[in-house]
Amino acid sequence: SPDIPAANSMAHAQQFQSIAAANSGNRAHGKPGYRASADYVKAKLDAAGFQTTLQSFTHQGATGWNVIADWPQGDPNQIVFLGSHLDSVPAGPGINDNASGSSAVLETALAVARADAKPTKRLRFGWWGAEELGLIGSKYYVSQLPSAERTKIKSYLNFDMVGAKNTKTWGVYTDSTTLGATFTEFFRSKNIATKGINISGRSDHASFKSAGIEVTGITSGDDPCYHSKCDDINNIESSVMGHSTNAAAYAAWKLAGIPGVAAQ
Ligand code: PHE
Ligand code: ZN
Ligand code: ZN
Ligand code: ZN
Repeated sequence: SPDIPAANSMAHAQQFQSIAAANSGNRAHGKPGYRASADYVKAKLDAAGFQTTLQSFTHQGATGWNVIADWPQGDPNQIVFLGSHLDSVPAGPGINDNASGSSAVLETALAVARADAKPTKRLRFGWWGAEELGLIGSKYYVSQLPSAERTKIKSYLNFDMVGAKNTKTWGVYTDSTTLGATFTEFFRSKNIATKGINISGRSDHASFKSAGIEVTGITSGDDPCYHSKCDDINNIESSVMGHSTNAAAYAAWKLAGIPGVAAQ
């Protein structure tokens, strides 16, 4: 898999910070900062050659959006899915929670395009709306999938809070230890510690797990600015973002079967 510079993910996180700053300080469901965040992600993906969909839903009287992107290569009946929530809470810009995961997943997708990757399986990427209000966007996405489409999704990997400063140990969700082993293998190769964690229904992997899909995910954990105004660009660390992004890319390369996975 590629060695993605940390600065690439940090540049996306900085854009989400600027979007919040220009839109009343947040990127929350139903607020203009959310729509601007979705437009930013979709524009990057469209320019890179993805098949993208902006899926709308309504919640609490406001429209929300999920961004879905398929890389048009590989077996369409075997989908490897990476996702992250794109909304913040109303209190702040939501940079560790979850511009961090959104940036890591976006940069992984863009790396797939830069590599002109020809995976065996199909790679799909998702950015979920209204997670903070109860996993609303991801639940809606799963509910709208015909069962024949649902069974094509072989694995779902979640990225929620992956940039916290001073992270020494990454949490790997224990929902599927076989799928989680892909992440522990990556971190071991970098001499970085991991621990198994169970965040239960606290993020979007739960929507996929409820549909019978094998799931895992990673997190650097929460922090003193969790759900606060100070969860801004100064609340994340470039090196942590780099490791999380490269963990996502390693998993995408390995699970989708892109040649050259061992090269890091
Ligand atoms: N970040 C999640 C939320 O949206 C909760 C969470 C906690 C996720 C701990 C991962 C680890 O609020
Ligand atoms: Zn609702
Ligand atoms: Zn979150
Ligand atoms: Zn949150």
